[in-house]
Order: sequence, then C-alpha cells, then structure tokens
Amino acid sequence: MAMSPTKKRNLVFLAVSFVLTLLVFQSVKRALIGEPKEVKGVPDQVFYASDVAPILNEHCVKCHRQHGAAPFSLMDYKKVYRKKKTIRKVVSKNIMPPWPADPTYSHFIGENILTDDEKEILFKWMDQGARFGDSSKLPEPPVFSKVSNLGEPDVTVYLDSFLVKGNNRDQFMVIKTPFEIPQDTFIRAIEFLPGKEQLVHHLNADLLLYDFDAKADVMDGNRVVDVEIHPMEFDEEFKQLKVYNDDGSMPYRYHSAVNYLPGVMGTIYPEGVGGFKVNRKSSFIARDIHYAPIQEDAWDRSHYNIFYAKEPPKRLTKEMMLGTNGISPIRPQLIIPPDTVMTFKTLYRVSAPISILTVNPHMHLLGDRIIAYAVTVEKDTIPMIRINRWDFRWQYFYTYPKMLKIPAGATIVVEATFDNTTNNKNNPYNPPRTIAERYDREGAGMRTTDEMFQFIITYLDYEDGDENQSLVYER
Ligand code: HEC
Repeated sequence: MAMSPTKKRNLVFLAVSFVLTLLVFQSVKRALIGEPKEVKGVPDQVFYASDVAPILNEHCVKCHRQHGAAPFSLMDYKKVYRKKKTIRKVVSKNIMPPWPADPTYSHFIGENILTDDEKEILFKWMDQGARFGDSSKLPEPPVFSKVSNLGEPDVTVYLDSFLVKGNNRDQFMVIKTPFEIPQDTFIRAIEFLPGKEQLVHHLNADLLLYDFDAKADVMDGNRVVDVEIHPMEFDEEFKQLKVYNDDGSMPYRYHSAVNYLPGVMGTIYPEGVGGFKVNRKSSFIARDIHYAPIQEDAWDRSHYNIFYAKEPPKRLTKEMMLGTNGISPIRPQLIIPPDTVMTFKTLYRVSAPISILTVNPHMHLLGDRIIAYAVTVEKDTIPMIRINRWDFRWQYFYTYPKMLKIPAGATIVVEATFDNTTNNKNNPYNPPRTIAERYDREGAGMRTTDEMFQFIITYLDYEDGDENQSLVYER
C-alpha cells in the first residue's frame, strides 16, 4: 500500500526526532556523570593483568620503566608486587603520579591524576592478595622512543657528550649547542630527549638566532660551563661560551623555547598554531640544565629534535615573563624573613587581547603555593592555574586543552606564598635565615637556596575563534 507524502514526512519526522532525543539524552547523561573519563567501575575481583596493569600503563610507566626517570620500573608484576606497600602510601597521599596543578581550578593537556575508582582498584588488588590473574588479559605495554616521542624530526642536534661527575651532588650547567641549517625557516616544535633519563633532572633552553653576517663562526667557543652559583644574568657564562655576536651584542633570543622534565613527552601544537623562526646560524643555550646526584661518573649525550612547520605560521609564538627578571615587579620586594609565611603578588595588565598556550609557575625550595588568574574590566575572574602544594621537583609547563583568551584591559594576577619556617621540610636552613632574590654574585649562595618568583606565559596575539581552537595534537 502506497503511503501518502504527508504520512511519509511524518514518519521521517518521528524517526529524526527519536534520534535527536536519544542524542540529547546521551549528552545530558554524559554531562551529569562528568565526561570525558569513561566510567569503568571497580570489579568485585581485581587482578593485575586485567585491572592494575592498564592503570599503571596510563599513569606511571612513562617514568617507571627500564632506564626511565624514576628509580624503578612498574612494568612487571613481580616489581609491582614488591613495591605494593610504598605504592599504597604514595598513591593515597597523592604524591604519585606527580601532578601539582589543582584540577578543580583549571585543566591541562596530559593531566595525570588517578580517579577515585582507579585508586580503589589499586587498593582492592592489594587487599585481595595482589593476584596476577589471566595473562591473556595483559594489555600491550606502551612504547617509548629514545629518538623522538613526537614523530620524525627534520633535524636532530646533539649536545656534546660529557662526563657527569659521580660526586653525589646536584650539578647545574650552562650548555651551548650551536647548529647550522641550509636556510632560514620556521619551526613548529622542539623536543629535548635526555641521553640518560635518570641523570637529567630538568632543562630550560633558549633558542638564539644569529644574523648571518653578525657571527662568523657559531661553532666557536666552549660548550659547557658548570654553575655552582646561581646567576640571574648569564653574562660571564655567555662570554666563556662565546654566545655573543662578533660585535659583543646579544643575538635574537627566544626564552624557554624548549623545556624538559621527567615524564614530559614534548609539546607540539596542531599545525598552524604558533611557531618559531630559526636562522641558518642558530644555537640552543640550555641556561638551566640540572643533573641529579649520582655516585659514579656517567656519560650523558642528550639531543634536541626540530620539527619544521609546513607553512610559515601566521602568528609566531610569543612569551612574557612576570616577576623575577620579568616585565612586572613583585610586591612587596621578594625578601622572606626567617620564621614567616609570606605572600607576594605580581600584576600585569594586557593592553591587547591574547590567547594563552602554556603557563609555567616557578619558585624554589620555600615555595608553598601559587595561584594565577586574570581579572577582566567587567571584574570577571578567569582562572589560570592553582597549585595548593608546591613541589620544587615538578615544575611543568602546563598547556591548556584550548587556548585561554585574556581580553584587552584584563589584569593577570599571580600570588605566590613562601614558607620560611621549619615546618617546610625543604627549607635549606635550620634555623631559617632571610632568603631573597639575588641579583649579584656576592655571597656564593647555592642556586636553589635563593628564591625566585616567576610566571612564564607563552601566547599568541588573539584572533577570533582562538578560544575554540583545541591544542591537543592529533597524530
Ligand atoms: C613524571 C614521572 C613519574 C610518574 C608519572 C610517576 N612517578 Fe613515581 N616516581 C618518580 C620519581 C622520579 C620517583 C623517585 C622519587 C622522587 O624523586 O620523588 C618516584 C618514586 C615513586 C615511588 C617510591 C616512593 C618512595 O617513597 O620510595 C613509588 C612507590 C612510585 N613512584 C609510584 C608511582 C605510581 C604508582 C605511579 C602512577 C600511579 C607513579 N609513581 C607515577 C616519577 C614518576
């Protein structure tokens, strides 16, 4: 029997609205239970192979694997079994995985936090006798490359290999790594890979661009200087390394063009989002590379990978630094008397709108907590980042899932609290002493015992729609 056109239309309409209702229902449900994490629940019987290994693979093994940054691997049953007591301790106290940023304030790419269910699975597994289970259910272990975690680099530049002394002390260096490429071009991403992950504790490197005629030989000069004393400016080291142009001026410098911390797999933004320029003659300058204390001499040979942009980027990545050495003063001046807990502020008003990619809060051993937000002209608050329990060891560069727009006229406010009492386990002095920023080389203060309060922002000049642009890199 033939259907009348109206009936047909009604049926189609019904079908469409049914599907739409389903979709709406699904998304409401998703909103209620709090996407994006898929909720798996806690099984009655918990086993290593099916339940625990997947959690460790997702949250732990990027550091806890053979030759990884952590002192032991969590990739095999026996090792995990042996460590179960300490795992319970550090997981229940939220010490591991290390992720200082408060997820109730703002979110970042690579956020590494165990859900309550995941913690319960780990604890239940231990309570039930830490059984292995069915080996066919073991997940594929994740693969990590010694060469690159971001793909096929266009250029790889090796740091000179050198001997890290086995003197059981922290060692800080300034390392120059010059290179030449066939022509000036644009870079999309730079990645640093340590030669030995347990040795390299962290790295902050700038990229220097030389005008072709400004420096005859970029390869000239020493490559490494030890820095026992923390310099605020690196003039002496730069002279020793022959970093300056032939006429003594400073080449163009991208601050913090590349950063590394254990477990950080490199930042690459989607194609077309920001980028750097790079010249025929260029150099990396690791102004802050920290080697962890070791007992026996060991060689390290780390490298940088450069990924070219397919097209010249429309907007170059910019950087601003608030606080110490930066564009905004610290109020009051950063002097922390003994036996005090003190909060300092630094404020910066943006005259034109910006789109923030990444933020990096930086303090030393007296750091206690830090918060950054922007206040708009209409007095709206835009949360940026909050760290409730500062951990000197884990100073990430935090990248937003979508660019964070700060409108014109808004003021960025950063408040840092320092604890100079004996309650602070990391206080380098007992009894506590006055600690301040140090702008000179007098007094031979070891690097970490001086204080800093710095907030680095990498951003683009704002364009319409930026706030919807995802920064998650899809391979
Ligand atoms: C970003 C790197 C990183 C990640 C991710 C990480 N760890 Fe660690 N872990 C370390 C380092 C480094 C140490 C050595 C101690 C230190 O330096 O804090 C450590 C130490 C430990 C310890 C020993 C603590 C002690 O007091 O002896 C345990 C247990 C541990 N981690 C468990 C875990 C578990 C479980 C996870 C995942 C849920 C995890 N870690 C994720 C880097 C990491």
